[in-house]
Amino acid sequence: MKFEKLAAPKGVREYLPPESQAFEWVREQLIYPAKLAGYQLMELPVFEDTALFNRGVGESTDVVSKEMYTFEDRGGRSITLRPEGTAGVMRAVIESNLDRGQLPVKVWYSGQFFRAERPQAGRYRQFYQVGIEAIGIDDPALDAEVIAIADQGFKNLSLKNYRLEITSLGDAPSRAAHRVDLMKFIEKLDLDEATRARAELNPLRIFDDKRPEIKNAMQDAPILMDYLSEYSRAHFEKVKSYLDQLNIAYTVNKRMVRGLDYYTGTTFEFVHDDLGAQSGIGGGGRYDGLMEVLGGQALSGIGFGLGVDRALLASIAENTLPTENFTSDLYIIPLGEEMKAFALTVAAKVRIQGFTAEVAFGDRSLKGSMKGADKSGARFVAVIGETEKESGSVELKRMSDGTLISVKIEELQKVLSA
Ligand code: HAM
Repeated sequence: MKFEKLAAPKGVREYLPPESQAFEWVREQLIYPAKLAGYQLMELPVFEDTALFNRGVGESTDVVSKEMYTFEDRGGRSITLRPEGTAGVMRAVIESNLDRGQLPVKVWYSGQFFRAERPQAGRYRQFYQVGIEAIGIDDPALDAEVIAIADQGFKNLSLKNYRLEITSLGDAPSRAAHRVDLMKFIEKLDLDEATRARAELNPLRIFDDKRPEIKNAMQDAPILMDYLSEYSRAHFEKVKSYLDQLNIAYTVNKRMVRGLDYYTGTTFEFVHDDLGAQSGIGGGGRYDGLMEVLGGQALSGIGFGLGVDRALLASIAENTLPTENFTSDLYIIPLGEEMKAFALTVAAKVRIQGFTAEVAFGDRSLKGSMKGADKSGARFVAVIGETEKESGSVELKRMSDGTLISVKIEELQKVLSA
């Protein structure tokens, strides 16, 4: 009997060697600035009580109304695979009283997220984000630093063709004032029932509608930015001034609406110009009401999520991946069975110095092993036999140009670091 092969679920992005090395590198580069800024790791469950996202992310959003992977577990509880990270962080902070200690609570996370979207290039049903959240302090300097940390992540990838767009979605009084006029405007439009219901939940959603006739109709709609309270306006001015002083370029996008309902105040998106329709490589903002909505204190918060899959696509588009980082420094070929232990010892020595070393295993001929060395892409190759063992010296072949370099085993790092 022959069994059929199985395939990964539709729209799922997985990373296998050798591509996974580039993926890992991108992920590390993106989150490293947050670690340097004192953010600490939070490892959270990938599934949560469905109510967390209904309440936290908002029922008017596509994410909650159409895209969640929700199921009943064996105990009859409604469980959802996390579509984003902020609500889970907030749940954990409240549950473990982290907000009763030093503020802001500064955490970073990294992992898979799940949205049942229509798959296409750069849009997956399981995708990867790295993110940070800073909870408990409302200071425009913090907003600027959060944006700067995201920007540094993209700079670490040597990306150039991206833009930062910012806006302010205002505080509660700004939004209340805007809502009155926006609802009046929307009432006059010829909208279907479902769209009207959405507008009731969050009228800002209508700005995000992709249908041309609605886009058109919304051209003259009142803009939230024109309704900012004195406090929100001053806050946003300060954020912009800090960004100017940090030399971070941005444009103000007055019509930006993010796909999650919790945003207030400073809100931002990083857009990459080479990625086609799925151009958002990262986004975030303030969510000053979220903690309270989830049953905690009335504390503010700000953070971002960066799309690792899309940042990798952007790095490929701009050709900025340092491919030499993804191959081994040294490939060691033992001449015969009796040299294997020695080859393992040399490999261990090299690795302790922080270099990557691989050993040729099995019983291949020297020619076969050399082919393996070639395929591995290693920078140097050493063949190790009786002579090398006795003399304590090896001959390294530099694979880029075939140069042979004789070196003492104890001094291998000198050549490998060159
Ligand atoms: P978001 O804008 O929904 O924000 O997602 C952040 C990033 O994740 C996007 O800019 C995009 O790069 C990536 N992304 C989202 N959906 C997909 C998908 N289906 N396939 C591939 N990549 C995707 C959030 O999730 C907020 N939690 C960010 C945040 C943190 N705001 C405050 N704190």
